[in-house]
Amino acid sequence: MTVYRLLLLFCCLIAANLISAQTPEQRKMDRFISDLMSKMTLEEKLGQLNLPAAGDITTGLARSSDVAKKIESGKVGGLFNVRSAAKIRELQQIAVNNSRLKIPLLFGMDVIHGYETVFPIPLGLSCTWDMSAIEYSARIAAIEASADGICWTFSPMVDIARDPRWGRIAEGSGEDPYLGSKIAQAMVKGYQGNDLSKNNTIMACVKHFALYGAAEGGRDYNTTDMSRQRMHNEYLPPYKAAIDAGVGSVMSSFNEVDGVPATANPYLLDDVLRKQWKFNGFVVSDYTSVNEMTDHGIGDLQEVSARAVKAGTDMDMVGEGYLTTLSKSLGEKRVNIAHINRACRLILEAKYKLGLFDDPYRYCDLNRAKTDIFTPASQAEARRIAAESFVLLKNNKNTLPFKGDGKIALIGPLGNARENMSGTWSVAADNSKSVTLLDGLMKRGLDVNFAKGSFLDDDPAYEDRAGMFGKAFPRDGRTKAQLLEEALMVASKSDYIIAALGESAEMTGEASSRTDIRIPQAQRDLLEPLLKTGKPVVLVLFTGRPLDLTWEQKNVPAILNVWFGGSMAGHAIADVLVGEVNPSGKLTTTFPQNVGQIPIYYAHKNTGRPLPDGQWFQKFRSNYLDVSNDPLYPFGFGLSYTQFEYGKMTLGANSLKGNQTLTVSIPVTNKGDRDGAEVVQLYIRDVVGSSTRPVKELKGFQKVFLKKGESKTVSFEVKTDDLKFYNFDLKYDWESGDFDIMVGPNSRDVQTMRVNWMK
Ligand code: BGC
Repeated sequence: MTVYRLLLLFCCLIAANLISAQTPEQRKMDRFISDLMSKMTLEEKLGQLNLPAAGDITTGLARSSDVAKKIESGKVGGLFNVRSAAKIRELQQIAVNNSRLKIPLLFGMDVIHGYETVFPIPLGLSCTWDMSAIEYSARIAAIEASADGICWTFSPMVDIARDPRWGRIAEGSGEDPYLGSKIAQAMVKGYQGNDLSKNNTIMACVKHFALYGAAEGGRDYNTTDMSRQRMHNEYLPPYKAAIDAGVGSVMSSFNEVDGVPATANPYLLDDVLRKQWKFNGFVVSDYTSVNEMTDHGIGDLQEVSARAVKAGTDMDMVGEGYLTTLSKSLGEKRVNIAHINRACRLILEAKYKLGLFDDPYRYCDLNRAKTDIFTPASQAEARRIAAESFVLLKNNKNTLPFKGDGKIALIGPLGNARENMSGTWSVAADNSKSVTLLDGLMKRGLDVNFAKGSFLDDDPAYEDRAGMFGKAFPRDGRTKAQLLEEALMVASKSDYIIAALGESAEMTGEASSRTDIRIPQAQRDLLEPLLKTGKPVVLVLFTGRPLDLTWEQKNVPAILNVWFGGSMAGHAIADVLVGEVNPSGKLTTTFPQNVGQIPIYYAHKNTGRPLPDGQWFQKFRSNYLDVSNDPLYPFGFGLSYTQFEYGKMTLGANSLKGNQTLTVSIPVTNKGDRDGAEVVQLYIRDVVGSSTRPVKELKGFQKVFLKKGESKTVSFEVKTDDLKFYNFDLKYDWESGDFDIMVGPNSRDVQTMRVNWMK
């Protein structure tokens, strides 16, 4: 036998093996798609890679829209942000009836934290530490979105963010890779369920791959650069968790990584995503992120389009670089047909898995919207989950919950800001149905008087920038002094003051970075005189990011951080203020003392010159002259109306070998006079490593519900998998040695015991 024949035989064996590793269902899909692709022209293949914006299509007019002509000629693979099953059905009909190969379209949308029933912004949701609640919120979002024609959501956003200046910190789950990974999995499960082809599950899209949250200076779209070790240990785990959970698609990010924009970055898209993680879905670019690589400075549209498809970005969102340049690049051998075929196949596979080839109208049942969207049951869930996301930051002398039935003064621009309750990225929300705090208090029959009290900000131009997408804070001609006068008058007649202050919904989200992360001055000018009245003041803080609350922490008796709670925000806040719900949220991002401490996060390294315990400054140590290294509120922090007492932690063993399991237990008692839930947190420090290791890393948590007076022993199992990290050579393994095991109510107040664990 010649060498050639041997080689051929070898290849056949491999191919046969690969084929036999497939399930019959996969083989059926492969055959179907190969057959379809054999009929497709190059233009039709490129059409599948094209994801144009639908524009403002009105029901009944889809057929005459610009995009209709493109659909008819097979130049569209999918569309996004079209609202209503009727419009989507019309557009789908164009593809199925008028295009040559009748390939159905994908219909995507940014369903980020709920569809019409809006849940808290993702950063708020993460503070529930309640994976079943988070999964359920995604489940409801999938049911509602699919009832309106959507089969694909651009969520979950899992970018680790440690810089609160960055506006998009609101869209993710905070700073921690372990918690972020659990949430990523819960979201994917919630959207996709066990069967993508059901008419009430939708395909998820994990984004933004990768490292988008590490933009320099917290400025959106800015450069990202970090070591591979850091990216693998601290930033990539949540994306990987989504892949492991079976997410159907991935969105590339706007930023560059290592000098190459993520959308054309072969290390991220090919080495990591495809080869290491074995991702087998498709990658979509972010909005015109292919074209934007010309501004990044790596070539003209033809060049960047070729680089993107070669690296592994399969679908081109909005920019049409693929549609307009790839056939030329193919002719010039700057890409080859295998790149285009691969991308086309992956997109067709997604359509197949969604069941669109069986029934292109699977998600276009015109009746479902009437029964499945914004149901009383979903609203009740949104109310329950919103209340769970609030974090009680301070509660001096049990100011909260309100006792008795005194007169309440609700004061502040956020007290009755209906359009803002849904928070950023809530494209399908009907904001007229959102419940404000004023509504919530009145609905309970409380004696409440409202005054706006101040502008959102003194600068009207800033207010405009912070009030986009119909979420404005219109002025009514009154001056700052007049607003204050009315507020003080309302306050004077009250027993309690609720100051509803903070950010507007659009002060976070995309392209909403801030360099000053305090409550805007106009509102601080209101808060001071309210405090001077001597009445109990509760700050109900609306925000999409960690703020600098140093002044408020010192001066305001009680602070309840309510993020942006979604459609039912006002009811949920009222539930907590009156004590019907005991707050249990815990922070998933560190709150700094001031903006100069940023980036600040709990899982930092020790440095060669750490501060000695108990000191906040020492010359030639790693610290600041003007402020301690401590955060204002640490990661994992949040108070309750009751008190939880932690007993002494115990370990199942002090020394372990190989793949043994360590049991860590701690008794927790509810010492107060109310039932409540507590998030018990487990952290680990690898004391000595071949590479430096963080001072602590979250490796477990349990949310336990304790009746007043009740005790429970909370146990964790630590396995060697929890000790693994990517070392200098990017090998993922654990190393023998000492480990500090820490348990506590937050990342600061922990008990510590040491174990020795050898291979
Ligand atoms: C955002 C994405 C979003 C996309 C589509 C982009 O500007 O970065 O998160 O999914 O638009 O709306």
